[in-house]
Amino acid sequence: MKKRVFSGARPTGRQHIGNYLGAIQNYVELQKDYQCVYCIVDLHALTTLQGSEAVDQIQQNVREMILDWLAAGLDPKQSILFVQSQVPEVTELQTLLSMSTPLSWLMRVPTFKEKVKMQPENVNYGLLGYPVLMTADIVLYKAEVVPVGEDQVPHLELAREIVRRFNGLYGDTFPEPQPKLTHAPMILGIDGVQKMSKQLDNHIELAATPEETARRIMTAFTDPARKRKGDPGHPEVCNIHHLHEAFQPEKAREIAPQCRNAEIGCVECKKLLAGEINEALAPLRERRRELATRPRYIREVLGDGAERARAIARVTMEEVRERMGLVARETG
Ligand code: TRP
Repeated sequence: MKKRVFSGARPTGRQHIGNYLGAIQNYVELQKDYQCVYCIVDLHALTTLQGSEAVDQIQQNVREMILDWLAAGLDPKQSILFVQSQVPEVTELQTLLSMSTPLSWLMRVPTFKEKVKMQPENVNYGLLGYPVLMTADIVLYKAEVVPVGEDQVPHLELAREIVRRFNGLYGDTFPEPQPKLTHAPMILGIDGVQKMSKQLDNHIELAATPEETARRIMTAFTDPARKRKGDPGHPEVCNIHHLHEAFQPEKAREIAPQCRNAEIGCVECKKLLAGEINEALAPLRERRRELATRPRYIREVLGDGAERARAIARVTMEEVRERMGLVARETG
């Protein structure tokens, strides 16, 4: 039996090449060796979005995201692809796990403290419970492996603590989920300073047109030490170089010494990169266009994913309710 992988991602709409290199490609790879469950976590999105913003954005973001996932090669025949809220068992499990999760564990979570600073006007109960819901996501499917980025490691540690406590109180029920760190380098945005992110508008969408892609790359910041073409460059600190490495490692090795010796200018280097990215993404973009014309198929994929997920979830919940004394035990 293949081990089970679970991963969740918030519905952030159209994915960018940072998401692609950092997470999606890895999701696709894992399909070979694991039984994969990939979830678009719309409930988690509600910890930061509310009111008309939520209503306007969630459905659209889910749709754009699943299009990118499918176009990138996530295969609904092999993997379970679904939207979190379509498996309501997860909220029941969150409630049950919350009963044995100390408040102090949740209050020391770094992302919670960060969010308190970022949205002081909306420090809601759900935000504090975010890691419990995340734990419920994973253990509802008894997943053992969770591909995540570095930023999610504290959440996973907490998930293991919650599992250990639950297992200690009610008997061995859930495996302790292990993080599987993605080794992709952090992709910087076109500002050359911060991690690529839609929020910072320093990103390049997977679904961008070739022209848009080139235009965004041409405006990107490069090695700050290179003000004129004659200045020697430092590829190791240049985000354009890192993108070359991600898309065409051989080309990157060829260009690096030319950059160091000021034999190639940034404009030329960026043009090459835009060409590489557009070429590499052409098949994905073509598939995406085609999928976008089939909304019914997309609904079926998510409907079928939710059903398969629920079938697993129901079995887990029966076991959990029984272990916690919520149903009468069978007596012989
Ligand atoms: N917290 C994760 C993030 O912000 C998303 C997430 C929710 C998740 N549930 C999960 C990731 C379960 C892995 C497993 O990226």
